[in-house]
Amino acid sequence: MTGELRKKLLQEATEARRNAIAPFSSFEVGAALVTRDGKIFRGCNVENATFGLTVCAERVALLTALAAGERKFAAVAVVTRSEDPSAPCGSCRQLLWEFGGDLDLVLGNVGGKTKDFKLSDLFPLPFNFRPGD
Ligand code: THU
Repeated sequence: MTGELRKKLLQEATEARRNAIAPFSSFEVGAALVTRDGKIFRGCNVENATFGLTVCAERVALLTALAAGERKFAAVAVVTRSEDPSAPCGSCRQLLWEFGGDLDLVLGNVGGKTKDFKLSDLFPLPFNFRPGD
């Protein structure tokens, strides 16, 4: 990923975070997922009164992109307020892996601290079942 795209993804994730609905945790999350041909899809976390139906920012971005017909992804940025940039939860790692493969991950906080990973760094032994297996 170019430095320019990395910066753009962090910006988009920061903007997406503004739309977060997180009245229960007060932990707003923004995500920006880029397709291999450069289209960016944003997501934010959406909490609700049951708590259990909360959807993470990464999944909102991924499902929005999938629903738009996109199938090939390159990278995802996630921005939160945590001191140490926050990584996607286990459920998001599974779905990002299944639909995105070994994505580049850029984790950032609102103060501008960032960390870069490959998804396989965080998800080294994935469940890889495919239709027909
Ligand atoms: N959250 C995300 O949006 N992404 C993650 O990967 C971890 C957690 C959200 C869910 C909930 O709204 C809040 O962060 C606190 O867990």
